Amino acid sequence: MDERNGQRLPRHVAIIMDGNGRWAKKRLLPRSAGHGAGLKRMIALCDHAFSRGIKTITLFALSTENLSRPQDELDALFELFREYFRKNLDNLIRKNIALKVIGDLTLLPEDIQALARGGEEATKDGTAGTLVLAIAYGARADILSAVNKAVRAGKEVTEQEFSALLSTSALPEPDLLIRTGKEKRISNFLLYELAYTELYFSDKMFPAFTDRDFDIAIEDFSSRERRYGKV
Ligand code: IPE
Ligand code: IPE
Ligand code: MG
Repeated sequence: MDERNGQRLPRHVAIIMDGNGRWAKKRLLPRSAGHGAGLKRMIALCDHAFSRGIKTITLFALSTENLSRPQDELDALFELFREYFRKNLDNLIRKNIALKVIGDLTLLPEDIQALARGGEEATKDGTAGTLVLAIAYGARADILSAVNKAVRAGKEVTEQEFSALLSTSALPEPDLLIRTGKEKRISNFLLYELAYTELYFSDKMFPAFTDRDFDIAIEDFSSRERRYGKV
């Protein structure tokens, strides 16, 4: 938790960027155009959020389940990931932001795995903030992988030790989760980490979710009382 101008800021904001397809459909555009618009919005929104003092942003960009979408949509998404890693690293380095990619990258084309790992390496000294991209990510798979690591180590683990086995191990738990696109569900995102996260749902489709909409979500967060089960 952080204080700026008297407002309580979330330290870590997680975002389920949903609604690209419906945004495009409403404009009679192909779904891929919605993903393109979503990527542009994502880059600008991250700049805005970091400049507001948010330290960690985790973005759900592609779920494990999304990998069963039609191949032409996946190809368009993969092309956008390539574009992102090729064009946006300089921006992150300039802003001193470290990039981290979570998810089962082995499910992605090999060149994207390499670009993602290269992006992490190129930005690893960033200390102003952390941008976490969840790609081919599923929380159940992540939890199972942690369980299996514990089983292989042959001993029972504490909550703290278990958290350290998840792909989000180095990160604080999210203070605020924003989901755009009108649906009110978690869709297999960060199931373990969200235990005490404040939830915020926006009816706006992600490409139409503005910096101002983000600020409204932050204002809403700052008025919440987090009790963690206490009185
Ligand atoms: C979210 O937008 C982006 C991804 C899942 C890759 P959708 O593609 O789910 O858009 P809608 O929900 O169909 O509008
Ligand atoms: C969640 O959106 C995944 C991402 C935004 C990457 P989906 O569109 O896949 O979620 P469902 O299918 O509506 O639950
Ligand atoms: Mg969707």
